[in-house]
Amino acid sequence: MSDNKDSHPKLHIHTHDPDLKFDPPKRVAEVAHVQTFAQYEKMYEQSVKEPEIFWGEIAEQFFWASQPTGAFVQYNFDVRKGPISIKWMEGAKTNICYNVLDKNIEKGLGDKIAFFWEGNYPGDDKKITYKELFEEVCKFSNVLKQLGVKKGDRVAMYMPMIVELVVAMLACARIGAVHSIVFAGFSAESLRDRILDASCDAIVTADGVWRGPKLLNLKAIVDKALDFCAEKGKPVKSCVVVKHLTADGDATSKEEKGKRPCNSLQITMKDSRDRWWRELMTAASDHCDPEWVDAEDPLFMLYTSGSTGKPKGVLHTVGGYMIYAATTSKYSFDLHADDVYWCTADIGWITGHTYVCYGPLANGVTSVIFEGTPMFPDAGRLWDVVDKYKVTKFYTAPTAIRSLMKFGDNFVTKYDRSSLKVLGTVGEPINPEAWHWYNTVVGNGNCAVVDTFWQTETGGHVITPLPGATKTKAGSATFPFFGIVPAILSEDGVEVKGPGQGYLVFKQAWPGLMRTVYGDHERFETTYFKKFPGYYCTGDGAKRDEEGYLWITGRIDDLVNVSGHLLSTAEVESALIEHDSVAEAASVSHPHSIKGECIYCFVTLNEGEAFTEELSKELKQVVREKIGPFAQPDFIQNAPALPKTRSGKIMRRILRKIAVNDRDVGDTSTLADESVIDTLFSLRCPSA
Ligand code: PRX
Repeated sequence: MSDNKDSHPKLHIHTHDPDLKFDPPKRVAEVAHVQTFAQYEKMYEQSVKEPEIFWGEIAEQFFWASQPTGAFVQYNFDVRKGPISIKWMEGAKTNICYNVLDKNIEKGLGDKIAFFWEGNYPGDDKKITYKELFEEVCKFSNVLKQLGVKKGDRVAMYMPMIVELVVAMLACARIGAVHSIVFAGFSAESLRDRILDASCDAIVTADGVWRGPKLLNLKAIVDKALDFCAEKGKPVKSCVVVKHLTADGDATSKEEKGKRPCNSLQITMKDSRDRWWRELMTAASDHCDPEWVDAEDPLFMLYTSGSTGKPKGVLHTVGGYMIYAATTSKYSFDLHADDVYWCTADIGWITGHTYVCYGPLANGVTSVIFEGTPMFPDAGRLWDVVDKYKVTKFYTAPTAIRSLMKFGDNFVTKYDRSSLKVLGTVGEPINPEAWHWYNTVVGNGNCAVVDTFWQTETGGHVITPLPGATKTKAGSATFPFFGIVPAILSEDGVEVKGPGQGYLVFKQAWPGLMRTVYGDHERFETTYFKKFPGYYCTGDGAKRDEEGYLWITGRIDDLVNVSGHLLSTAEVESALIEHDSVAEAASVSHPHSIKGECIYCFVTLNEGEAFTEELSKELKQVVREKIGPFAQPDFIQNAPALPKTRSGKIMRRILRKIAVNDRDVGDTSTLADESVIDTLFSLRCPSA
């Protein structure tokens, strides 16, 4: 994939040897919290055998206004024994905002930079200290209270990667309200569905955002979503708008792509509902006592795709999530006081929640918040920013690595990356070639590469190397984090001991695990605990090699992982079916060299409709509008009929084969009409 692989002969040697192991770099191991694998094993053993002692000692480093009233941990993973329930430190009172701000300031970190903010356009930047962040958060907490937001209320957020987003999250946490952040790339309809499901009374947004050279009017999308909510009889009472792009007063400067201010953005404010952030903040006091909440009170919900097509509101609670976010950040990135840490994920996804906001702040480190994209203004942007802030720990997605690789090494090597020590990846399996490029070109072969496996549901890393302790293999997430007991199960639920492959499950609870699906505990139990009673089922496949290393093989349900974002094929199908010309649709995952996976759709049209290039474009547009641009299918194929069993079930296994032009479709004897297969092969998208 790389243009100039030949300048890195090592790439060729390593790529095809999955068993080749990489030692933790000495300079990383020497100062690491965990310096040897034996030390990891010892800590791991205690974490799973005596969780209350292991996590109890960690919990002591946080402030608790009162102690747990019952057991430190109580859980039931077995539906046969009663409802699934997970509780850590129930009865203990705390506040995560207090722990990540007030407590750090008490420790003397008030003047330390909490965040360097790096805007979309190079040169547009600012920084905020712990003390300044604390003051902003207190003010916004008072703003929320003034708007009538109380403990337990849900507040939606649809925002760019700006400091105000972190302020809004922490303010919710400070007053015990629950944030529900919707990635600002979702459509108005997706936003509406999430606002309605969570019954949010308030939303925080911004006027707009530049994403690279592209301008998005976020407020207009929010207006549309809020109109829908009002139509449904559930109006949102307050909408707070950050003036991020539009200038106050007369903006006379010539508009430049990607740059602020931006004169062309039209914002309408609805009198009774919409308020400017800055106006509210100016009037607010910067004193706000934290609300002491129960360890098991909700902290946030975050929607993730579900196999049925309806997104699930994954609910996390305060106490367990706090210690898990802090502990995984500390050990997986080996965070120290002098680190400059940068996670490129958007806060709209779980990675941003745990590893842009809560985890790094809990460790009192300085981080970078990046508004832009890896390609703007060119493919060297990430490394320019690394150089600018002397980033030491860097965390990104394989899809970003793959997309940068094809631009060649020069975009990387022209910047100084000698500050880097740990390079993390997350979101999807990383192919060995991308792993080696990351290690060799970005990291100069001198950094620890940590491939961290986890999910929105798990709250934090569950399978990951530790930078100073674990020998890595390219493409393996290696071993379980503290408190995690993985197992691999066969289809009939038998544990695969030793080397083998199957369903990845977990046998016991850890503090950061989700507690329920918001408003639908039964769905929570069905999705994660019913297939294999007694286990939390990830929905991913994994294999264990001869040396015990774990390799994630990808989803084994109907979810597709596009550029690290999970999408449900059912959700894409229901968007397609809403188009007047479409009678039926089936979508499947298809390999993609940059995105990892993409979506390939088969559509059966209504009688009399013709399949044209234009219709294909329209259908792609429908998905963009219904779900969001990132969900747009790459391929849409005409399917006069779909391969179905006699009972009418679509055989997606066969569709996946057709999409990749693999004639070895396996057993077709259960199909109602086998001739469908040849027809579909003859009509497949030739470029796929
Ligand atoms: O399929 C796995 C994949 O991403 C899914 C979780 O997606 P989401 O909840 O959106 O959270 C993404 C960020 C944590 C998983 O079920 N996944 C995540 N990390 C990895 C991965 N697959 C392989 N290797 C990883 N490191």
